[in-house]
Amino acid sequence: MDGQKLNASYCICRSAIFLTMERLVVYLLVISTAVKAMMCPKRCMCQNLSPSFTILCTKTGLLFVPPSIDRRTAELRLMDNFITTLRRKDFANMTNLIHLTLSRNTISQIMPYAFFDLKGLHALHLDSNRLTYINEDHFKGLINLRHLILSNNQLSYISPGSLDDFIETIEDLDLSYNNLVNVPWETIAKLSNVNTVSLDHNLIEFVPEGIFSNLHKLARLDMTSNKLKKIPPDPLFSRIPVYAKSKGSPLSSLVLSFGGNPLHCNCELVWLRRLTREDDLETCASPPELMGKYFWSIKEEEFVCEPPMITHRTPKLTVTEGQSVSLKCKAVGDPDPYVRWIAPDGKLVSNTSRTISYENGTLDILVTSLTEKGTFTCIASNAAGESTAPVELLVTPYPNLANSTNCDKDAEPGPSDILISAKSSFPNETKAQQEKVVVVAELTSSSALIQWPSQHHLPGIRMYQIQYNSSSDDILVYRREI
Ligand SMILES: *[C@@H]1O[C@H](CO)[C@@H](O)[C@H](O)[C@H]1NC(C)=O
Ligand SMILES: *[C@@H]1O[C@H](CO)[C@@H](O)[C@H](O)[C@H]1NC(C)=O
Ligand SMILES: *[C@@H]1O[C@H](CO)[C@@H](O)[C@H](O)[C@H]1NC(C)=O
Ligand SMILES: *[C@@H]1O[C@H](CO)[C@@H](O)[C@H](O)[C@H]1NC(C)=O
Ligand SMILES: *[C@@H]1O[C@H](CO)[C@@H](O)[C@H](O)[C@H]1NC(C)=O
Ligand SMILES: *[C@@H]1O[C@H](CO)[C@@H](O)[C@H](O)[C@H]1NC(C)=O
Repeated sequence: MDGQKLNASYCICRSAIFLTMERLVVYLLVISTAVKAMMCPKRCMCQNLSPSFTILCTKTGLLFVPPSIDRRTAELRLMDNFITTLRRKDFANMTNLIHLTLSRNTISQIMPYAFFDLKGLHALHLDSNRLTYINEDHFKGLINLRHLILSNNQLSYISPGSLDDFIETIEDLDLSYNNLVNVPWETIAKLSNVNTVSLDHNLIEFVPEGIFSNLHKLARLDMTSNKLKKIPPDPLFSRIPVYAKSKGSPLSSLVLSFGGNPLHCNCELVWLRRLTREDDLETCASPPELMGKYFWSIKEEEFVCEPPMITHRTPKLTVTEGQSVSLKCKAVGDPDPYVRWIAPDGKLVSNTSRTISYENGTLDILVTSLTEKGTFTCIASNAAGESTAPVELLVTPYPNLANSTNCDKDAEPGPSDILISAKSSFPNETKAQQEKVVVVAELTSSSALIQWPSQHHLPGIRMYQIQYNSSSDDILVYRREI
């Protein structure tokens, strides 16, 4: 377009103020590039529908965001170009920008804080680009964002903190058609204003339970075509009506789409089967007897679970106090059971510095104590029930502690066999060595380096015992043979 010509038509326009509204708009569209105050990048269309500036640069072969963009622009559309990188200066000072479209470019890199000045931005369209990850600093500054469209990229990672700046304003989050195996679920759970979440056509394997419970405005949740074997019911789903169809579902309901997943059709999916739906082609991938069957054609009673059955467990074991031991309990069932252990004292065994309780049924005790002598009970549970089995452990006292209180078989581990106490002070190392006391150094909240002078010249020392006091562990003694 030619500047002089436009200036001329601008004048015509000014004198033609009494034209009908329609014609006036047409004129404005044509002439606004000529408004002196506004710069229009080459080959772009610019509109000045005061007070808002609009710049349209579609299919103009752009390789980067043009630097000559007026900083007051409210709407900037740069789709169908070849932009590869978004730089910090590209959108600097554009505090009035409300709508930014960068769809169908080749963007693979967003520089940190590239959108930092866009305090007023409502909609950011980055669909059909080549983004592979989103970091904490990519979307910093977007404190008013409502629509974030990231579909059709190659995203495999989204940092949990990356959505923080608009966690309470975002209404529409589109992550569909990417390579996501994991989604930052804790972040999703905090999107209090979100209406639409599109996660379809990814590689998502797992949805944690209760993630949607505070998303009171959620109206569409699309999880179509992922790798989900199950979808847990959510407190939200029991508060509002959930539909598996989009047509004719009432307002204030949630439309949940989940077709195209390898669903494991057991009793945990009965709630899903009870939804109002349209006849889509969802199928079950397992168990074998339901494989390939249409989800909606299977009767509710056929969605069954099997209670756990314990198939193997460790036979009676004998260990010496202080040794490590591994107790095992193997259980089968549908869904896969998880196993917990009850110690002989009747308490549930938790993970401590001394014990690790794996869900697959292995209990590792790294340092056994006399208090653990007795019958452990493993409990295998799943949605269909529970099953228990005893495992006996015999702990024999450490044989060489002739005169210590540990001589008594059932005694609690006592404090008596500490030769030198660390309690008194934290003296200098050299001083400590001279005085032959224990030194505690490099103290942190979870570790300490304990040093003491070698006592090899004293006859009869066979082991060291360290007592510690930890809020995460009930047994406070650690022994080490020399
Ligand atoms: C943004 O504003 C600052 C301060 O007014 C100025 O120094 C800077 O050059 C501006 N940047 C752009 C890209 O306009
Ligand atoms: C204990 O830790 C293991 C390994 O880190 C983990 O798999 C298991 O779930 C934990 N158990 C409990 C009861 O938290
Ligand atoms: C359970 O998991 C732990 C850690 O992954 C492993 O060492 C142990 O062998 C497993 N036990 C069984 C019975 O598979
Ligand atoms: C252990 O006890 C025996 C006799 O009960 C005593 O003679 C000996 O001195 C004691 N040893 C220590 C190290 O206390
Ligand atoms: C403490 O030890 C350091 C070296 O480890 C030494 O430089 C310093 O003089 C010592 N202080 C005392 C009071 O002994
Ligand atoms: C461990 O420390 C806490 C807090 O300092 C104290 O109340 C408790 O008595 C201590 N336990 C033992 C066995 O020393």
